[in-house]
Amino acid sequence: MTNTLLITGGAGFIGSHFTKYWIATHLQDRVVALDALTYAGNTANLAEVWNDPRFRFIPGRIQDQASVEWIFKTEKITRVVNFAAESHNDRSLLDPGALIQTNVYGVSVLLEAARKFGVERFLHVSTDEVYGTTDTGVFKEDDPLLPNTPYSAGKAGGEMVVRAHHVAYGIPTLVTRGGNTFGPNQYPEKLISFSLTRLLQGKKIPLYGDGSQRREWIAVRDHCAGIATVLEKGEPGQIYNVGDHNERTNLWIMQRLLSELGMDERLIKRIEDPRGGAHDRRYSMDTAKLQRMGWKPERSFDEALSATVRWYRENESWWRPIVESEDYQTFVRRFYGRYLGEDL
Ligand code: TYD
Repeated sequence: MTNTLLITGGAGFIGSHFTKYWIATHLQDRVVALDALTYAGNTANLAEVWNDPRFRFIPGRIQDQASVEWIFKTEKITRVVNFAAESHNDRSLLDPGALIQTNVYGVSVLLEAARKFGVERFLHVSTDEVYGTTDTGVFKEDDPLLPNTPYSAGKAGGEMVVRAHHVAYGIPTLVTRGGNTFGPNQYPEKLISFSLTRLLQGKKIPLYGDGSQRREWIAVRDHCAGIATVLEKGEPGQIYNVGDHNERTNLWIMQRLLSELGMDERLIKRIEDPRGGAHDRRYSMDTAKLQRMGWKPERSFDEALSATVRWYRENESWWRPIVESEDYQTFVRRFYGRYLGEDL
């Protein structure tokens, strides 16, 4: 059957990879990408599908009910994949209220439209951060949600709205919780993308605290394939962890990037932890539920990381305008300002 997907946040990092993945692998389907083009959205991320007749881009916000309803109606949307979100912990600490509009209210607007016009599937992309932190063991899908940052609290709130619409109105919802994701086209504010773009400009990289916090990392293409598996085979009302068990400390990641670039470890600048008590120590997930549906990662972590380093090296024309933009420089000054004097 032919589907028309609405991919929200389609010009963002994971959303644009998913859009390209779907267009390439589902030749009968159409994709409508909706994106607010806030600081993190970038139409250049969609260059390779921009002129495809099966693709349409619409600028707009998921909170805008009239536009969302117009899209469902005129495009005859059959499936929704919601990537649209404010997705940065450090920004969320500077401005804790703003993200509720997108990450909670916007989800409700999309679900209301799904109810009004009917959809076959509604997949909401969430994060392992909703579980909070754990020093040992792995998070399972039915563990309690104990978010510690405004960002993860907003994502947990969005999930609750999804759950309620499934229970109350029978919307065929699915939720994925992804691990820390990396790859080409990631806005240069996250550990890997921020570090690489700074190093390539000859700047030092800030290690928060002692760098012993651990994250589990997944390559963006594998994350997209995991979401696609859930969209095709998941059971409505269910939640699926999407992770690849590559657990590494932040210090390990920085050392690996430096060695890949042939640079000196003295470029690591240890700073007092700017997240303070909101800094989760460790994320780790059980992914048996997803694997039972046949998903497995395609590429090793090492290969994917090397390819990412290569991509940032070869695509300065993509990241240079971003790091020189007013918005970016304002964020860096606001968040890291007090360390900049220490030659960061
Ligand atoms: P980040 O990539 O922002 O993702 P998240 O907060 O969603 O896990 O950060 C990953 C880890 O890296 C987190 O423990 C904070 C740390 N970190 C640094 O030490 N230095 C940096 O410059 C950044 C951006 C993050």
